[in-house]
Amino acid sequence: MNKVVEERTKRTEWYRDARFGMFIHWGLYAIPARGEWLRSVEELTMEEYEPFIDEFTADNFDPKEWARLAKKAGMKYAVLTAKHHDGFCLYDSKLTDFKSTNSPCGRDIVREFLDAFRAEGIRVGLYFSIIDWRHPDYPHYGDMHHPMRNHPECSNENRNFENYLDYMFGQIRELLTNYGKLDVMWFDFSYGEMKGDKWKAAELVDMIRSLQPHLIIDNRLEGSGEDGGSIKKINPTTFSGDFASPEQMIPPEGILDEAGNPIPWEACVTLNEHWGYSAQDMHYKSSKMIIRMLVECVSKGGNLLLNVGPDAKGEIPEESVKILEDVGHWMKQNSRSIYGCGYAGLPKPEWGRYTRNGNRLYAHVMEEQTGAVCLEGMAGKVEKMRLVRDNSEVKESSFWNLAEYSENAFFSFHQKGNSGNPPMISSYPLPDEVDTVVEVFLKEE
Ligand code: GLC
Repeated sequence: MNKVVEERTKRTEWYRDARFGMFIHWGLYAIPARGEWLRSVEELTMEEYEPFIDEFTADNFDPKEWARLAKKAGMKYAVLTAKHHDGFCLYDSKLTDFKSTNSPCGRDIVREFLDAFRAEGIRVGLYFSIIDWRHPDYPHYGDMHHPMRNHPECSNENRNFENYLDYMFGQIRELLTNYGKLDVMWFDFSYGEMKGDKWKAAELVDMIRSLQPHLIIDNRLEGSGEDGGSIKKINPTTFSGDFASPEQMIPPEGILDEAGNPIPWEACVTLNEHWGYSAQDMHYKSSKMIIRMLVECVSKGGNLLLNVGPDAKGEIPEESVKILEDVGHWMKQNSRSIYGCGYAGLPKPEWGRYTRNGNRLYAHVMEEQTGAVCLEGMAGKVEKMRLVRDNSEVKESSFWNLAEYSENAFFSFHQKGNSGNPPMISSYPLPDEVDTVVEVFLKEE
């Protein structure tokens, strides 16, 4: 096995078990409250944007509350924006004065985040934007995304990109040196010719591996929105990343490398339509959709990194809290069908999805069936079954109307108390209409 792949597989063991994480986008952009790209979208100058620092009071910022919510939701890791494209640092960087410790709150947000989430036993990661719209040596005029991309007076002739890279490396070194053991570094993002060697990515990853060898990184030092980089190659580059990071979508078949081997990946998804807080955006997904999204990711061998965007005060919007609490209720009953699970190696069933952990197959029944639920091709392979939410027995069905479909195994939820043998009925309500999970203990082959 290729050394890069071998080391990636070892590093991501905890990550492939964790399956569910919290993404947190917070920064100055929560004050204008029109999403984290507003400087670029509205082509705001620094003079128009920088004064927001004077309002960054973080009145209600309580990372312990964030951590409690993540834990309640069943999230096993969390990634906070240490610095987004606007260049504002949520930590006490010695390389800039554009930082939270220079704002009215005077707090090192990153340090408090790390302490609070570690205290809840949640693994911690930092998002770091390799794009920096504030740094004078970052390309401005003609760049694909820079807020001043359409301003000829912001020409790049005197910009020294080497200086910018020294700044970028220096900040990453600060985060990997001064904040203890991190579990994830989430870089964002490569585009056009701004990728790989342009960032001195190989040298950067060497530095990262020397400082924190266990740390896992995403694929965006090399990958852009259209192209995930070499992480799927048989011989990926050293900066191809430890996991792929599809965004706002779930790969139809999960993500495999050129040889057909699963690679670690996470779908990063927002709860509404924005990463950073947007006061107007009330288009939130339901907890039903989030639960089924998480099951879909795991069924395809991946993770779900679900985003919250705290408001200017540091509060996670109540709509997000409610959704995560509902998801947590489902996870409290069913999490063993998520943690440590992955591909089942079976075709997707009509009634829902499968996840699997060794000889434990999890049937996620999401659609009521006519008659018994069919485990296709599983005749003779089932040792026993349990309803995950309460560990109650689920018996195989052997009604006369199933006899000619003998290559399959069947079960139904409608158990008749006295006789022990459920009656043959044509329909019954699912115990959990969002996703009823049956644990199928497979016979040793
Ligand atoms: C996109 C957005 C960026 C966000 C990231 C999260 O790159 O542009 O704002 O942080 O997705 O995956």
